[in-house]
Amino acid sequence: MAADARSRFFVPEGGPYALSHSVGCLPRSAPAILDRAYLEPWRREGGDGWNAWLGAIDGFRAALARLLGGESADYCPQPNLSAALSKLMPAIPRSKRCRVFVTTEDAFPSLGFVLDRAAPFGFERRLIPRGEDPGDPRTWDRALGKDIAGALVTHVHSATGVRTPVAEIARICREREIFCVVDVAQSAGILELSVPQLGADVVLGSCVKWLCGGPGAGFLWVDPQRVVELEPTDVGWFSHAEPFAFDIESFAFAPDARRFWGGTPSVAPYALAAESLKVLADIGTATIERHNRALCREFLAHAPDEHALAVDFERIGGTLCLHLGERLDAVAAALRATGARFDTRGDTVRLSFHIYNTAEEAARLGDACHAGS
Ligand SMILES: Cc1ncc(COP(=O)(O)O)c(C=O)c1O
Repeated sequence: MAADARSRFFVPEGGPYALSHSVGCLPRSAPAILDRAYLEPWRREGGDGWNAWLGAIDGFRAALARLLGGESADYCPQPNLSAALSKLMPAIPRSKRCRVFVTTEDAFPSLGFVLDRAAPFGFERRLIPRGEDPGDPRTWDRALGKDIAGALVTHVHSATGVRTPVAEIARICREREIFCVVDVAQSAGILELSVPQLGADVVLGSCVKWLCGGPGAGFLWVDPQRVVELEPTDVGWFSHAEPFAFDIESFAFAPDARRFWGGTPSVAPYALAAESLKVLADIGTATIERHNRALCREFLAHAPDEHALAVDFERIGGTLCLHLGERLDAVAAALRATGARFDTRGDTVRLSFHIYNTAEEAARLGDACHAGS
């Protein structure tokens, strides 16, 4: 199965590709789809290509729903997570009593910046300090106090690999009437995931990483029970209930997640990502997660014991984040010598195994990690 699956992707040559936490590999079927769904309608029909283009975006929303759960109406295309969060913040109902929006110090900085700039919409950012474990629900129980209006929960932290118990945190938020936003950028496509079952109010993601859909195809999912309470200020004709009504005197929000859309949308990223989502749905996220775990175990069987001792598969996403301290340079050099593509954050090496990686690659990378010991 994994060998068949590998053949469905362009995997860069030269050595193990361990960078899927950054950019997933391009599906082999995607260029032809991009041409058929985006360039061909333009070539043949010019402005009349919009029918096909809007169909391609509908296909993207449907493919998200198929892979991640819920209905297509609950997903709104967005260029990236920060853009989605920027649209969301002014839309969240405010209470006089609670102003604080809490997240972790290890949340992706781009989203932290958006919260930092949310004062004009009545919010003040608070960070759970790095020393407190975001994977422990007790950390959130303590942090979600009486002055908290909202929480941004990173499902899997990109710099540390730590996975948060999202469903439990979302439950606490619901009980305390705290608005709960979840970032699935590092979990969608690698962990089996049902977005509606997380229990959040809003879920933000993008297809560039494990979903193999390239940059520019982000999304915002809204709980259909809550969507009508949310009124974004950053709108455009595609946020309108009837985008083609063209009456400047009457704005009416789309009844579903489309209200977060805005003006004339881009098309190409969504047309391409719709295909990658289909490829991953064909393979199945359960299969992908199982393969990732098998390769992580293979890697750890070859790497120094200290790494295996540090990994608890219940508490990480798809990426192995290896804290190397003074050995960082030696290990990074040995990994580079295998031709591997990987990256580092501080003294941590990040290695990710997707469906297109092999056990032999995982073993080779594990062996390389003995450098400098
Ligand atoms: C956890 C997480 N959230 C968000 C992002 C990206 O945010 P944006 O789409 O705003 O660039 C990343 C990218 O590395 C990430 O790892």
